[in-house]
Formats: sequence, structure tokens, C-alpha cells
Amino acid sequence: MKKMNIVIAPALLAIAFGASAADNCTIKIKGDDRMQFDIKEATVSASCAKINIELEHTGKLPVTAMGHNVVISKNSDMAGVAKDAIAAGAANGYLPAGDARVIASTRLIGGGEKAQASFAGKKLSAGEQYNFFCSFPGHSTMMKGKLIVVP
Ligand code: CO
Repeated sequence: MKKMNIVIAPALLAIAFGASAADNCTIKIKGDDRMQFDIKEATVSASCAKINIELEHTGKLPVTAMGHNVVISKNSDMAGVAKDAIAAGAANGYLPAGDARVIASTRLIGGGEKAQASFAGKKLSAGEQYNFFCSFPGHSTMMKGKLIVVP
């Protein structure tokens, strides 16, 4: 009996890890000094209780020159949010305060910094089109990607 338990335990562990990887509850993105994100697409599950955003700025330039954040909105809202972000200004981290179109956002960071944010998976609907982008003025034309939402 004891020997049998030893065999079964690793198999159960493998199943547990497999299920957790398929949950897609974390979005990891790196931004650099060339105004680029390292990914063009991310997949998350609307069934995640919490979806985490992990941003790392791998560059060296300061936030005032090469600031990056991760903002999530519906695809149809991205251009409007990016435009209003410029008006919001540096003092507001280039993001309009209390904007309902912003589903989630990290703070704006400079080279060498990291930022995290989280939001409820139920804020997203599978099948709807979403984007992640940087709202620093001018960056969303290059720093953007598709956020795919699965059930
Ligand atoms: Co940026």
C-alpha cells in the first residue's frame, strides 16, 4: 500500500499543475526603451477570480521619457482612452481618473521598475474584443496587443 501511494501522488500533482496553467490568470508583459512590449497577444480566462497583470520595464530611460503602463479596455474604447490619457497629463499617470472604459491598469513606470495590478475575471466576457496597451502619449500605436478572453 505504501509503495502505491508514492506512485499516485506525483500523478495527482501533475494534474493539479496542468489545470492551473490552463487557467490563464496572469498577464506578464515586458516593455523596453524601444517603445515595445514583448508580446502582441495574451490569453486570460473570464473564470479567474482574479487576473494579475505583471509589467516589467527592462529599459533604462526614466518614466518621463519612456513611461510604460498596461491598460486594459475593450478594443472599441482603446483609441478614445489613449486620446484622453494625453489630456489627463503626467500628474495623473496619463490615465483619465475614474474612467469606466478602463477595465484595469498598472501605474506608469520607468526603466528598471516593475508594476502589478489585478482585477476580477468577471469584468471580462469571453468573445468580446479587448486590448492591452500603454497610455503614455504616442505609445499605444506600437505598444498594444490583443487580449483574448476564454470562458
Ligand atoms: Co509606454
